[in-house]
Amino acid sequence: MLVKHSLKLVSSALLAGATLLAAPARAQDSLNIICSVQADWCNGLSTAYARATGVKVNLSLKGSGEALAQLVAERENPKTDVWFGGTGDPHLQAAEQGLTLEYKSPLLSQLQPWAQRQAQQAGYKTVGIYSGPLGFGYNPELLAKKKLAVPQSWADLLKPEYKGEIQVANPASSGTAYTMIATLVQLWGEDKAFDYLKALHKNVSVYTRSGTAPIKAVARGETAVSISFVHDGPPEKLHGFPVETVTPSEGTGAEIGSMSIVKGARHLEAAKKFYDWALSPAAQEIPFQTKASFQVPSNVATKLDPNVPDFRKIKFIDYDYAKYGASAERKRLIARWEKDVNSLPK
Ligand code: G6P
Repeated sequence: MLVKHSLKLVSSALLAGATLLAAPARAQDSLNIICSVQADWCNGLSTAYARATGVKVNLSLKGSGEALAQLVAERENPKTDVWFGGTGDPHLQAAEQGLTLEYKSPLLSQLQPWAQRQAQQAGYKTVGIYSGPLGFGYNPELLAKKKLAVPQSWADLLKPEYKGEIQVANPASSGTAYTMIATLVQLWGEDKAFDYLKALHKNVSVYTRSGTAPIKAVARGETAVSISFVHDGPPEKLHGFPVETVTPSEGTGAEIGSMSIVKGARHLEAAKKFYDWALSPAAQEIPFQTKASFQVPSNVATKLDPNVPDFRKIKFIDYDYAKYGASAERKRLIARWEKDVNSLPK
């Protein structure tokens, strides 16, 4: 044990020495990015950007809520330059809290109206990079084995036969789960939405940290149903797993995945260049090329992949992004969920 421990110390000292000896990267030759989309997309992005520009991208993979918490913690001494992806609500909250920087990309006019509106609402401290609908993932093989029907509505998820069969993320760390709460509140009003969440709690086996963990669990046959973004289904299917998706008949919400430059970024020029590149069609095709996920991209010229969900076939609520991205509202709803729902016994 002791030997192992001292070996560990020696190797970390060697590593630290090597870091000191290494030639320091020139100020704008590297970029620190918090990446809140699927890992394959994050890695594809950093590889493609390094190849195109020679800039080294240091990635930190974090869910939307965790990314926001990190920016708050780094406020006095930011280490992050760009926050790429994740649901838009915490990006709006970061803008409101002065954690991110106003920047108007020359590519703004090429973006979908919803992406431009996201930027305007935040005083140009964030911008929309993709959009995708919330729904359910399910494992058809597991459902058949357990003789369970495919859930078609939010109401269906409360049926006793789904007890222990549903996974969803924790809204404190995951933007996916916060999108679910905000969607339900907008569908039915807050009290009814919380009554629903309390009833759903009985059927949920686990609240995961990351928004994509539940559909990965569905893919691997660990749970029958997940509450997930539907664009996260096709990647699992393309990897050979039995996963399908459906959107609830009562109506659902959509996220506006966003990107922001951190206020006080150490590599500001590099950050702006990356931001412009990330809004270009070439960069926005990366999630399709890497089979990472299939959201609607914000640049209208990006070639769509056939796996992108057809928004015309989905019943959407009129999601109020400004209201549910406001700091006080997001904090209040998450705190209410912790107190009224997460603390309940199963
Ligand atoms: C996945 C989805 C994204 C979404 C993100 C949110 O990566 O593909 O569309 O923005 O999850 O992650 P989170 O862990 O915050 O729910």
